[in-house]
Amino acid sequence: MKRPGRVLILTGAGVSAESGIPTFRDADGLWEGHRVEDVATPSAWLRDPATVWRFYTLRRQALLSVEPNAAHRALARLQAEGPPSLLVSQNVDDLHQRAGSEAVLSMHGQLRSLRCEASGRCEDRMADEDLDEHRFVSCSCCATASRMRPDIVWFGERPLGMDTIAGWIDALRPGDLCLVVGTSGHVHPAAGIATQARRSGATTVLVNLDAPLNVDDFDEVHLGPAGAVLPPLVEDWLRSWSEDAGTV
Ligand code: APR
Repeated sequence: MKRPGRVLILTGAGVSAESGIPTFRDADGLWEGHRVEDVATPSAWLRDPATVWRFYTLRRQALLSVEPNAAHRALARLQAEGPPSLLVSQNVDDLHQRAGSEAVLSMHGQLRSLRCEASGRCEDRMADEDLDEHRFVSCSCCATASRMRPDIVWFGERPLGMDTIAGWIDALRPGDLCLVVGTSGHVHPAAGIATQARRSGATTVLVNLDAPLNVDDFDEVHLGPAGAVLPPLVEDWLRSWSEDAGTV
């Protein structure tokens, strides 16, 4: 593959699976134990905030006991040593950032932060007192100390950064790269990014444990665990791109 001008990366739950974070739709995935409409919608939060709070707070607690895996580190290396890139993640963990990726757009929000229900302001809230699954957290931005909600994009809410993502897709040119890692292609608009990138002329590459719904959107498909597939793939790309540039 010739050195791309830019690289658009999309990740899903599969990139964090080898760090011990459950995916959503695999066996024993998060949606097996919970109904989406009971824990991941604005109406669920209105109807039963305690259940929603517990669901997310247990996942926030889990962030403290997981580490980035080789897939996160390979993507951070690709971003550091390769062409200009944007990493769009559907994931709400902070493992890309902790692996060293800088240009990360968390389109479904982030577990680390909470959002004031009154002002909409978000705060990074991972202190012990913020992680009690039986006790809501109050903001520090309002005199009335309003309740804070998970800073997560729920079903029916608009994903974050859509204008930035659209701008990146529009700027893709033939020879650019769209790399998709660890997602089942169930949820739009993320699932449509590879199709749109291909329409812009980019080369689309998939790394996934098994063939997802949108497997036909990809020019190149690498099936296997991202932690095993990505490091050598990134190494090969960086080596061939540096040979292209005459800098070995
Ligand atoms: N390496 C690579 N891929 C993997 C690995 C792995 N080690 N383990 C699992 N996978 C793949 C699975 O084969 C599956 O295709 O990751 C994908 C995970 O799919 P989902 O569980 O559906 O997760 P995701 O695609 O990220 O879901 C998208 O749906 O519920 C919403 O908001 C939620 O962001 C989430 C969105």
